[in-house]
Amino acid sequence: MLVDEMLWRDWHPVIIATDMEVERPHRTTLLGVPVSYRRDRDGGYHARRVDGKGPCRIVERYATVWICLSDAPREFFAVPEFDEPDRRIVSAGSIRVHVSGLRAIENFLDMGHFPFVHTGYLGAEPHTEVLPYKVEIDAAANEILATDCRFVQPRASAVAATPIEVSYTYRVARPYVALLYKTCVPAPDRRDAICLFVQPLSEEWCVAHTVMVYIDDVNTEQELRKFQQTIFGQDLMILINQVPKRMPLEARHEIPVRADAMASAYRRWLRDNKVAYGTYAEPATEEA
Ligand SMILES: [Fe+2]
Repeated sequence: MLVDEMLWRDWHPVIIATDMEVERPHRTTLLGVPVSYRRDRDGGYHARRVDGKGPCRIVERYATVWICLSDAPREFFAVPEFDEPDRRIVSAGSIRVHVSGLRAIENFLDMGHFPFVHTGYLGAEPHTEVLPYKVEIDAAANEILATDCRFVQPRASAVAATPIEVSYTYRVARPYVALLYKTCVPAPDRRDAICLFVQPLSEEWCVAHTVMVYIDDVNTEQELRKFQQTIFGQDLMILINQVPKRMPLEARHEIPVRADAMASAYRRWLRDNKVAYGTYAEPATEEA
């Protein structure tokens, strides 16, 4: 299918910058288009479409390498935490998943599954209730913000030794980009950020790239990475079992089992922004 204007003009992640080898060509797919990219010895990046339809734009930002297929790229979303000098910027890796990237984002926004999917880490029974939170659209940036999210978590992060009430802000900055800001255990007035940068390989395959922007003097990079990979491994079991692989946008396709304001807002926002790539539409049926 044709790729929606908003996605076509957007920057999409292709690799974590530290995973790139100098002077070695890398191949991947973006929105169904095969691309090749490399970094030269001077640190310059180069990318081109494999189908011969020309070079593409490529930049390194937020510890990640991004490509835009359009000649008229959108502006980047802002994540000022990356500029704070005392932040630890740690990648939790890139995982290829057989599901629409929109499903991966929606799953990332799902606090309701904490006690069941992340038992003993991000939630535990009997604390299964999702307390009311606020969802708003930042009209100027065209982003979704969910604030006042709270959850009692047995082990909220690699530095949390005892259960704490964690406060969250979720932010959907792009159809395939979401960020989570959470209580920072060693610095209560600041917040750790976890970035989920999803690369849409096609409508039914994606790569989830995760980057942590943390305040943490205690854990090694290995420990931070292992914690986040454990959490994502639990999510993976949910993601690979999604049916259909693409995300239905019409409410009637899925039974709302709980008041899930964030997922509803995300689906509505995708509809309003005319994002169809990676979504599921009911096949046309013949009139009886
Ligand atoms: Fe999860």
